[in-house]
Amino acid sequence: MSTQTIRPARTLQGSLTLPGDKSISHRYAMLAGIAEGTTRLSNFSTGADPHSSLACMQALGATVVHKEDRTIEITGTAGSFRQPAAPLDCGNSGSTMRMLAGLIAPHPHTFTLIGDHSLTNRPMERIRKPLSQMGAKIDLIDGHAPVTIHGGTLHAIDFDTPIPSAQVKTAVLFAGLQADGTTSLTESIRTRDHSEHALRAFGATLTRDGEKLSIPGHQTLKAIDATVPGDISSAAFFLCAALLFPDSNLVLDGIGMNPTRASLFDVITALGGKIKVLNVEEQYGELIGTIQVNASPNGLRGMHIEGALAAQLIDELPVLAAIAPYTSDGITIRDAKELRVKESDRIALVAKNLRAMGATFTEHEDGLVIPGKQQLHGAQIDSGSDHRIAMAFSIAALRATGDTEIHGAESAAISFPEFFKHLEDLCQR
Ligand code: S3P
Repeated sequence: MSTQTIRPARTLQGSLTLPGDKSISHRYAMLAGIAEGTTRLSNFSTGADPHSSLACMQALGATVVHKEDRTIEITGTAGSFRQPAAPLDCGNSGSTMRMLAGLIAPHPHTFTLIGDHSLTNRPMERIRKPLSQMGAKIDLIDGHAPVTIHGGTLHAIDFDTPIPSAQVKTAVLFAGLQADGTTSLTESIRTRDHSEHALRAFGATLTRDGEKLSIPGHQTLKAIDATVPGDISSAAFFLCAALLFPDSNLVLDGIGMNPTRASLFDVITALGGKIKVLNVEEQYGELIGTIQVNASPNGLRGMHIEGALAAQLIDELPVLAAIAPYTSDGITIRDAKELRVKESDRIALVAKNLRAMGATFTEHEDGLVIPGKQQLHGAQIDSGSDHRIAMAFSIAALRATGDTEIHGAESAAISFPEFFKHLEDLCQR
């Protein structure tokens, strides 16, 4: 385990182009693996998680070539995965395990999906339920991995998602793409729609009628040539850091601005930050732009994050909680129980680390109420080997008094290996 020391900063200045979005990289990698032809993906995520998806695609028969400069070429299996020789190792990646389950379940093989200690503790019943309704036989151990899938012909279902989860939605869409009949899915809360865009990019037909998505089965996909937009959830750490210093100036180039991910921009504005969109373009349904962010000279206000907003900001909540004590009115986070079953129990770990830095707050089963006007002090941070906890508290440390030590800092590499280097480059002390 490595420890990173974070010293307080005076301000944050500079510009950055972020590595490719983790969510989009997973989807492009998986669909490229089943498509016909060679897909070329520029600015692929450098995080370990999407590389777990790539390794699984290789084990299933796709060819993956790493080119220079974050470019990956994937030659797909044209619709037929092979029986892998060994269990498919999903590493730390819930996205890999859940979305891949849907993609492979229609294939006539037996697959075993395994993961690390954290992933083995995460709930998998949520994908077993719809996929077994479609006809797959799936074995779990007490609701958890290893996931054993006895695949074969699946039939369409009409599914209402009980929890807001883009991973579960994707598992159903990926299975529906290859099933008999037209599969429909209705979301209680609309989650990130990268799978819908990615499926269309690879040539699939998919329709939306109000909240209902429908995907006809037995479709074939064709390779694409695409650039993965910069990861807005990785950008979130620097955006929040910029908010902490009145004279900060941060420009982010090539960043993904998909509206189902961009609630963060509304939050930044609500907190008092200023965002300028300098340009925006579209590629395969995804928006990519350049933004400039400055903090308000009057400091940060506070806000309530609950309901659909909590679901849409789920990956950004740890860093928003970590900067909450520095706001004037505090930040309340509710309806975010899903945080307890992420790479760690993120509510418990945020609470533990806020407490270590001297904050007072109230912990709830589904969130945290964190008052503002609190000065944090440097502390020993337990990342729990969770990338977003390690990065979130590195940001809190920038405005603390004294140095902070982040234990398990290497976990940042799950989504953003360059994080600490960029943080050093942007911070002025
Ligand atoms: C993701 C969906 C979210 C998110 C995760 C990535 C995705 O998980 O937390 O980091 O790429 O679809 P859930 O589907 O469990 O909400």
